[in-house]
Amino acid sequence: MRNILITGGAGFIGSHVVRLFVNQFPNDKIYNLDALTYAGNLANLTDIESANNYTFIRADIQDLDKLREIFTSNNITHVIHLAAESHVDRSITDPLAFVKTNVLGTANLLQAAKEQWQEDFADKLFYHVSTDEVYGSLGDTGFFYEDTSYDPRSPYSASKASSDHFVRAYFHTYGMPIVISNCSNNYGPNHFPEKLIPLMINNIIQRKSLPVYGKGLNVRDWLYVIDHARAIQCIFSNGNTGETYNIGGHNEWTNIDLVHLLCDKMDEKLGREAGDSRKLITYVKDRAGHDLRYAIDATKLKDELGWEPSLQFEEGLSKTIDWFLSNEEWLTNVTSGSYMNYYKEMYHN
Ligand code: NAD
Ligand code: DAU
Repeated sequence: MRNILITGGAGFIGSHVVRLFVNQFPNDKIYNLDALTYAGNLANLTDIESANNYTFIRADIQDLDKLREIFTSNNITHVIHLAAESHVDRSITDPLAFVKTNVLGTANLLQAAKEQWQEDFADKLFYHVSTDEVYGSLGDTGFFYEDTSYDPRSPYSASKASSDHFVRAYFHTYGMPIVISNCSNNYGPNHFPEKLIPLMINNIIQRKSLPVYGKGLNVRDWLYVIDHARAIQCIFSNGNTGETYNIGGHNEWTNIDLVHLLCDKMDEKLGREAGDSRKLITYVKDRAGHDLRYAIDATKLKDELGWEPSLQFEEGLSKTIDWFLSNEEWLTNVTSGSYMNYYKEMYHN
């Protein structure tokens, strides 16, 4: 039996990974470690919270002693590390928070795993979930490959790049079995509404202005979150130790084209007049150091492990909009912050 520690499991991607693992691996124990920052929300997991093989642990990866205790008392054998500060805009206003969680937190987790596993690395794995942003910014053509040089340009991507380096250092120096995946932009249910797609959906519902940075010509490669979770499961089960796998959707959109598509789909679904929501678009000051384009080449993952995205973008976007429209309470809770008050009451801090 494996004791699998998933960090950041109350967040957007982590909650989909936790659900998948709890359902797919009933004979393993799944521990969800999360600090429940503003981005962590246990309401993302109500459907599996009473499963026999699931345990939630509230802890901060900045706390090494606590991590040591968790590894020892639960005999953790595998780690899937997603906990992070994840929003680029927040990293511009508070870079040190990203160093503390993403760099120090990852180093702490590696150290706790090394101490627990030192005697025997057999049947152990440290899986680090990273981002395509570590590779920097592309021009109009080309792709990020697994051997593309790192060139992070925001405090967020610099902190993720640093964490990737620490993970590889533990592989080369101590022989720790590790694997890393670098994924493109995710979208889907439970996406926190500070990120482009859920922010636009929320603002369209409320007829608020739709802030497009700069000229809206930056390009992102979008992948449905459940396809990312499937890729993580595939790499976790079949990936080769020490390797890196890129994950992406081969699905590039300029921000403005994407916002137009969202406006049109939502007008249809909300029974509004065609073109109504487009009138809400407002061009605002650009993000500092705004990366122009990301595009992943995921051929290695397809050829070696057989993973491919299951959903076409328009279908995924439709499912996403439908999820937000039928989960307005979730949206109201996270935007009103009432779920944070609940945690304060429940955990007394
Ligand atoms: P998120 O912000 O939605 O969730 C992050 C989770 O980590 C939250 O539950 C939060 O409470 C938890 N957390 C934050 N700091 C913590 C700490 N110090 N200790 C313990 N828990 C802490 O993030 P996400 O979008 O789900 O991203 C998850 C991971 O995937 C991150 O590592 C991110 O870099 C990576 N990633 C994200 C995307 C994307 O498009 N969102 C794409 C590629 C890679
Ligand atoms: O590429 C993977 C990364 O994708 C992840 O590692 C990050 O955790 C995740 O947040 C995401 O980063 P981005 O910066 O690409 O995502 P965001 O949703 O913040 O922005 C997407 C694009 O939309 C980007 O070009 C900035 C633009 N944007 C964003 C917001 C929030 C706007 O034009 N207006 C907005 O209000």
